[in-house]
Amino acid sequence: MAKRTITDTLRLASAHPIPQLGFGVYKSPPDLCVQSCLTALRAGYRHIDTAQYYANEAEVGEAVRRSGLGRGDVFLTTKILSPAASVDQNYHKCVESVRELDAGKDGSGGYVDLFLIHSPNCGGAQGRKMLWQALERLHQEGKAKSIGVSNFGIQHIEELKEFAKVWPPHVNQIELHPWSQQTEIVEYCGKQGIAIEAYCPLVRNTKAADPTLVKVAEKHGVTPNQVLVRYCLERNWIPLPKSDNEGRIQKNADVYGFALDKEDMDVLNGLNQGAAGSIVQAVDN
Ligand SMILES: NC(=O)c1ccc[n+]([C@@H]2O[C@H](COP(=O)([O-])OP(=O)(O)OC[C@H]3O[C@@H](n4cnc5c(N)ncnc54)[C@H](OP(=O)(O)O)[C@@H]3O)[C@@H](O)[C@H]2O)c1
Repeated sequence: MAKRTITDTLRLASAHPIPQLGFGVYKSPPDLCVQSCLTALRAGYRHIDTAQYYANEAEVGEAVRRSGLGRGDVFLTTKILSPAASVDQNYHKCVESVRELDAGKDGSGGYVDLFLIHSPNCGGAQGRKMLWQALERLHQEGKAKSIGVSNFGIQHIEELKEFAKVWPPHVNQIELHPWSQQTEIVEYCGKQGIAIEAYCPLVRNTKAADPTLVKVAEKHGVTPNQVLVRYCLERNWIPLPKSDNEGRIQKNADVYGFALDKEDMDVLNGLNQGAAGSIVQAVDN
């Protein structure tokens, strides 16, 4: 297999490429977020993951504009959480996000690369339908190049089939790391051609002293968190490590000077605890 590099992309079912390494900004406060994103872009990340809920879409957009990179050089994702009263209202809420992230040439709003439904747990089946139909409209108009879901179980993705014009969703973003491998939904997404994004890939630094992980890290002369990012890449997932610290932002992307072999992957895969291993949530299939 070709050597992995920070410029690696995967191809989404929408036919658009997605940089495999992403940068998360959950809990990145507005006064730090612009600097953190600029640091990340300088370190070579080309993909930033935000959400309406994170309240820092404008800062992410500002960082891209200030970076000197072209809009087409950076992949931007955002998400909508709670459904409003109609498809139209949801659509307009999403257009606002697009405008925050990318003002476009004439100030009328450009595009985001990926728009996700943040969670299946707000608004029930009717809410999920209204959100998906709003995202479909955004996609059709070119305001979201790809659309997808987050925290969706198999039942939620299958449910979309009943009315969706765009199916399957291009991405499912879920909690993934060795302790929470979510095997059922991962296999299902693989079969359907749905790309899998891994949130909390560092388990929020709660496993950095885990003896099994530390042993693998020592073998390669890297840090436990670097092993966790690389683990996701080896699984063909799209990891979204977050940090507001310059050194850690760089370190989390410095994962291309070593590779995990089959033995390492077997050991790390052996850490799976199923739903009990998740720190945010396992999907409900
Ligand atoms: N769709 C969803 O429902 C959902 C849910 C959760 C997360 N997400 C997305 O996934 C991204 C990542 O998840 P996450 O932010 O929850 O968790 P994470 O990336 O696993 O961990 C981030 C935490 O680890 C610390 N950290 C980062 N690098 C480190 C390192 N090298 N050494 C020690 N500590 C380090 C960070 O602190 P510092 O900032 O101080 O470095 C931060 O507290 C989010 O930012 C968000 O974009 C999505």
